[in-house]
Amino acid sequence: MRQVAVGILASILISSAALAQDAALGEKVFIKCKVCHQVGETAKNAVGPELNGIIGRKSGSVETYTYSPAMKSAGLTWAEDSLSEYLKNPKQKVPGNKMAFVGLSKPDDIANVIAYLKQFDASGKKTP
Ligand code: HEC
Repeated sequence: MRQVAVGILASILISSAALAQDAALGEKVFIKCKVCHQVGETAKNAVGPELNGIIGRKSGSVETYTYSPAMKSAGLTWAEDSLSEYLKNPKQKVPGNKMAFVGLSKPDDIANVIAYLKQFDASGKKTP
């Protein structure tokens, strides 16, 4: 009986953890992006554009960055769903874009990295 209760409790904990977005875990996922992207108050364009305020930002809209024609004309506004799709499979979401990244295969990694990025407003200030 006790084992059953423990099992149920464990599965509740696991399923709620899977749904939650965790910005701290997302910061670790962002290590993969950091090769090419910066965020924060000192963020600059690198191989890829800076990602401040990315949720709500129009795709291909950083004036100082030279996008591919595909990203320039993608016509997306980055929201959690469109960004999830892009991070899962960049080449499928925006065919012909020049982000040389295979994508994130784990849904948790995608949710967490979005939670991390969401903390930065357009000026790169981190909001809790
Ligand atoms: C190898 C370098 C590289 C890696 C790694 C990489 N990116 Fe990119 N990313 C780019 C480039 C280059 C572009 C511009 C694409 C274009 O213009 O076609 C881009 C574009 C983007 C855009 C669209 C930005 C805009 O202004 O519309 C987002 C969002 C993005 N990347 C997020 C990420 C995230 C999050 C990760 C990590 C999970 C990541 N990228 C990993 C190179 C990279």
